[in-house]
Amino acid sequence: MPFDPSSLSFESLNSFNVITVGLLTAVVILVILPFRDPLASVPGPFWARWSPAWMVYHALKGDMHRKMIQLHDKYGSIVRTGPYEVSIADPDAIQLIYGAGASFKKSDWYSVWQGRRKFDLFAERDASVHSTNRRFVNSIYSFSGLLEFEPYLDNVLSVFLSRLSQMDTQRIDMGYWAQLFAFDVIGELTFSKRFGFIDEGTDKGTFVHIDGALQSAAWIGQVPWLYWVHDWLSPWIGNHLKITNRHGLLREISAREVSQRNSVPSSHPDMLDKFMDVHRNHPGQFDIAAVMSMAASNIFAGSDTTAISIGAILYYLCKYPQHKEKLMEEIFAEADAGRIGRTNVPYKVARDMPYLQACIQEGLRCHPAVGMSLPRVVPPGGLAVNGVHIPGGVS
Ligand code: HEM
Repeated sequence: MPFDPSSLSFESLNSFNVITVGLLTAVVILVILPFRDPLASVPGPFWARWSPAWMVYHALKGDMHRKMIQLHDKYGSIVRTGPYEVSIADPDAIQLIYGAGASFKKSDWYSVWQGRRKFDLFAERDASVHSTNRRFVNSIYSFSGLLEFEPYLDNVLSVFLSRLSQMDTQRIDMGYWAQLFAFDVIGELTFSKRFGFIDEGTDKGTFVHIDGALQSAAWIGQVPWLYWVHDWLSPWIGNHLKITNRHGLLREISAREVSQRNSVPSSHPDMLDKFMDVHRNHPGQFDIAAVMSMAASNIFAGSDTTAISIGAILYYLCKYPQHKEKLMEEIFAEADAGRIGRTNVPYKVARDMPYLQACIQEGLRCHPAVGMSLPRVVPPGGLAVNGVHIPGGVS
């Protein structure tokens, strides 16, 4: 008898058919798919294996930094966090995945950070483009390059300490003040000027945009295709994603500084001068948009990370006063020896203060500034970690 599609209707699905379809679906999901699933043997939360929704949920909830640690405690060093995504907690794998010369490219999570911009060092996923771009600015970010700016950062530090001493009888939020400080440091380093945040004791409404952009990137980066659908529809539906602040507000701050620099030179050398030099020497490859992008990257990548790290180190020192005491002893010994001043600790001295260095490293270890993974894609040959084979293409 020929097949007649019109004979199919919801009414024809009696309860027997519904149970049969349900059972077949369960067999496909639970029995057949795992055999075809290359990550089937990697343990992880049930819902994470089926869709990126699990990652989106925790990115939106903002508990990824705790959740990932719980999962590794429960399942071990390799945990499945998505249909094509795993989280690896293994010190040996760090060098393999992130080390210089590693062939693990950044995943599409980064595409939402870059948007349509051509030059973005942080978000660039093409390794050869990234290394070309990186070569232009490498010496600017080298240790010796950054040390040139030390005297100007000392000025910011003394303004900061004098502001704190004016408030020495008040309770203040040191996390917030660390952020005001870090922002003014980045302003001095990049544009030879503080943003005036520590002087005025306010971020003038800036941090909310950075926080919004970070929260937005955290979840939309799990479903980058949705970012691009939004991008395509935005002429009609408007902008609903705060990650675009990174391409908008922060870029406006640096665009303003770049255009002012053309008419008013800076009072002392800064990173913007150096970016402009690169532009003058390579106008075709490092255009003015690249100058703006690097300046905006400093604000975005440098301020929050530095502030979180300072806040974490101070927090742990307050939590463990015996370690604070020990650190103070080291600081007083250096002061008594005349190697450091009240508001000035030269890098060359700080580098050789073992207890201070240990406190900094421990603070960074206990509270990493970036609270979620920075995903990389396994190259075609696959990756073997702790006896588990992770196929190419997995994040
Ligand atoms: C304690 C402070 C800091 C921490 C913990 C930190 C952390 C990081 C991390 C983890 C990355 C790699 C991101 C990835 O692979 O996806 C990165 C990249 C970057 N950071 Fe920082 N950062 C800090 C301070 C700064 C500062 C002060 C600046 C600027 C003056 C800065 C500028 C950059 C730039 C431009 C990149 C991109 C580099 C590239 O892709 O080649 N960072 N940072």
